[in-house]
This record gives sequence, structure tokens and C-alpha cells, in this order.
Amino acid sequence: MRKTVVAGNWKMNKTPAQTTELINELKPLVAGSENKCIVCVPYTNLANALEAVRGTEIEVGAQNMYFEESGAYTGEIAPNMLTEMGVKYVIIGHSERRQYFNETDETVNKKVLKAFEHDLIPIICVGESLEQREQGITFELVALQTKIALLGLTADQVKKCIIAYEPIWAIGTGKTATSEQAQEVCAKIRETVASVYGNDAAEEIIIQYGGSVNAGNSAELFAKSDIDGGLVGGASLKANDFSVIVNS
Ligand code: PGA
Repeated sequence: MRKTVVAGNWKMNKTPAQTTELINELKPLVAGSENKCIVCVPYTNLANALEAVRGTEIEVGAQNMYFEESGAYTGEIAPNMLTEMGVKYVIIGHSERRQYFNETDETVNKKVLKAFEHDLIPIICVGESLEQREQGITFELVALQTKIALLGLTADQVKKCIIAYEPIWAIGTGKTATSEQAQEVCAKIRETVASVYGNDAAEEIIIQYGGSVNAGNSAELFAKSDIDGGLVGGASLKANDFSVIVNS
């Protein structure tokens, strides 16, 4: 049985002090949940987040990292800077990074490989635009994004990955994919993983849905057989809403 994993993607929101406040509010609301809860906060808030979650089951993730170890890359963050702090997860290839910061399937793959060198678990984002959905190429596109992102990993590494299927048209728009739409693409991702890495890897890999997940729709989405939780943006910034999603 796969665990349900819910990750909050705070994006560029909250200061360090506000981070401590929000996590302290969240802690009692998710205590004892059977599902895994991860908060992915801005780099500058990681120390506060790690301190605030100490002694709880909540885990902390970053929202990005670079694929080199160190050097002349002004403004970038290396994987060992994250792991030394105690960070366990890192979001890779979010559509906002692909759109505004020129990330590609190839840089996503480099980051995924580098994350594994440092025992960081990548939350890899894939998903189609509205135009691509209307062109009828969602399955092919998402399968290709998945294959390239995982290139060079062993089946055992693939088992540890989290893939977040996030249709771009559903992110921050309030326009959630129906649970059927989300399920069929998540199933396609699992089938793609099975075709390259075998059934065991496909059975174990966590596949999340993301895109306007909220306290009202999470239970129906997570009840689908191939949806193992969610990557949650806007609704992760409110402790009450996020805790309902985590407990779905
Ligand atoms: P949203 O964002 O929940 O605000 O739509 C999801 C995401 O971008 O990860």
C-alpha cells in the first residue's frame, strides 16, 4: 500500500517569522495523521521551518536547487547546503520554474540525478498547458516529461521519487482537473514508469496531483487509485485548509 503524501508548495510567500507561526498553527491539526505532510518553503525560511517541525512527523522541503556541487553560480543553492540543514525533499521542475526561469526537461533530469547523489527526494513536476490539452497531446507529453526526468536513475531510485502531475491550466486558477481527468493522467504516468523501470517501481512510486487542490476537493481526488496525495499551493498557506487536505 502506498502512503498518501501531501506537500505544501508555499512558493514565494511568508517570511521566516510567519513560517514559524504557520507551522506552529499547523502542528496540532496534523498530529497523528496517517498521511505524510511536507512543507516546501522558500530557502530563507528553511531554518525556521526545520526548527518548528522538530519532534513532529512534518517534513521540510525546498522548492528548487541547482545541479552543480558549488562554484560561480550567483544566486543558486547547492544540494549539500540543503541536506546539511536537514532538508529531505526538493521540488524539481515546477511549471513556474519552467515558464519563468527557463527550466527544461534536460535541466530537470540533471537536478533529479544530483538530488539522488545527496539522498534528497525529488518531487518532480510534470503537466500540460491548456493549449497542449486541447491539441490532444497530454498523455504523450506527460509520458515524455516523466521519461526524461527519470533518465539515468535505477529502478530502486525511481521507487523513492515523487511525481506531481500538475496541469498548468489548473495551477492557481481555481480550475481543478476533475478527479477522472487527474486519475487518467496519473495512471498514464504509472504505466510509463512500469514500461521503463518495471512493475515494482510503478507500484511504489508516489504520484501526486496538483492544481487548485483545496479542502473541498482533496478527498475525492486522493480516493482515486493512482493519485497518492497532492502538491498544494494556495491552500497550503492556511493551516486549517491545509490540515483538512493532509487528513484527507
Ligand atoms: P495551487 O498550486 O494549489 O495554488 O493551484 C499548486 C502548485 O503550483 O504546486
